[in-house]
Amino acid sequence: MDDRQRYDRATAALEPPFAIVDLAAMRANAADLVRRAAGKPIRVASKSIRSRPLLERILAMDGFRGVMSYTLPEALWLAGNGITDILVAYPTADRHALAALAGDARAAGHITVTVDSAAHLDYIEAAVAAVRPRAEIRLCLDLDAAYVAFGRRAGALRSPVREPHEAADLAAEIAKRPGFRLVGLLAYEAQIAGVGDAPPSNAARARLIRLMQALSARELILRRGRVVNAVRRLADLEFVNGGGTGSVELTTREKAVTELAAGSGFFHPRLFDFYRRFTGRPAALFALPVVRRPGPGTVTVLGGGYLASGPAGPARAPQPYLPAGLRYAPEEGAGEVQTPLLGQAAEDLRLGDRVWFRHAKAGELCEHFDALHLVDGDTVVEPVPTYRGEGRTFL
Ligand SMILES: Cc1ncc(COP(=O)(O)O)c(C=O)c1O
Repeated sequence: MDDRQRYDRATAALEPPFAIVDLAAMRANAADLVRRAAGKPIRVASKSIRSRPLLERILAMDGFRGVMSYTLPEALWLAGNGITDILVAYPTADRHALAALAGDARAAGHITVTVDSAAHLDYIEAAVAAVRPRAEIRLCLDLDAAYVAFGRRAGALRSPVREPHEAADLAAEIAKRPGFRLVGLLAYEAQIAGVGDAPPSNAARARLIRLMQALSARELILRRGRVVNAVRRLADLEFVNGGGTGSVELTTREKAVTELAAGSGFFHPRLFDFYRRFTGRPAALFALPVVRRPGPGTVTVLGGGYLASGPAGPARAPQPYLPAGLRYAPEEGAGEVQTPLLGQAAEDLRLGDRVWFRHAKAGELCEHFDALHLVDGDTVVEPVPTYRGEGRTFL
């Protein structure tokens, strides 16, 4: 039985649209991340999962430790549901959530928030000023891990803190202020971890990306090491987090890094097909029903316009995956309520048949579905709620 037959059989009792996670594929992807991490623990990026039960299943596997969450309200909710060791890896300006954190000693013991400037410290102090008693707030310092050369910059625009003396200044500022404790350092090299080095049919671009990534890795290993040394003189760091799905085996080689981060690798969405260093198995799919046949070689499915974030373009559209050989109508793309699909494979599709898609990214898929149906072999073992299915839309 091929994958399409297996998924169709497992979900025969369901009405599309719905989303599935193939557990065997996800377990294989998780095992490969652990192999690539070569002994260092992996913090699970919840933005790329967005389902609490699934997050718990992953955390129960060997090799994973802690959650990298994306908003403080999310972290508080996870902590309230028994998850421990949560790093909110993006700064927060949510005054209510900060006050709730400071007022809840148990949650404050499990959650770390990220800062990259004294302005963040001022902001947090103002938000928690009226809280009594006030729990100590655990902080993580975010470091700019982008590559800068020849007046150009590759990488995410994140922290303004780049050099060892800048990191040391902020660490000293934190040490001066009561109520804060610096426990972690974060440096995410998006230009390596999030950029595939094997872009389709563009050899020149591939060469450029590989050169940039090699130079960036060489620069970062020195700078990250120096920053960590400088900060360790001022604070007892519990962790130094780096990397992502696309860089696990490279980042783990750096002595200064104590743990990796990964999220997308579990579902292995479309954008992660373009790396030479690893191949995952597509694990999260969604099914849309064929609702009409406009003409020869064409079917129309219901919905489909689940575009991924990032620079807009064709790479952010879902991939019509199974049956193979379907493509979008160029003037319509992935539509709001209906999506025409062209190709020879359309000839064999009847009304009510499913077309299986992959999202371009990982967790954003979960904003469109209340549940993920977990498939093991050719059966659905259980539906688990997404964040949205639990009434939680954090972003
Ligand atoms: C701080 C941080 N670490 C790691 C990652 C990597 O996540 P993923 O493995 O889902 O690509 C990201 C993604 O944007 C991130 O923002």
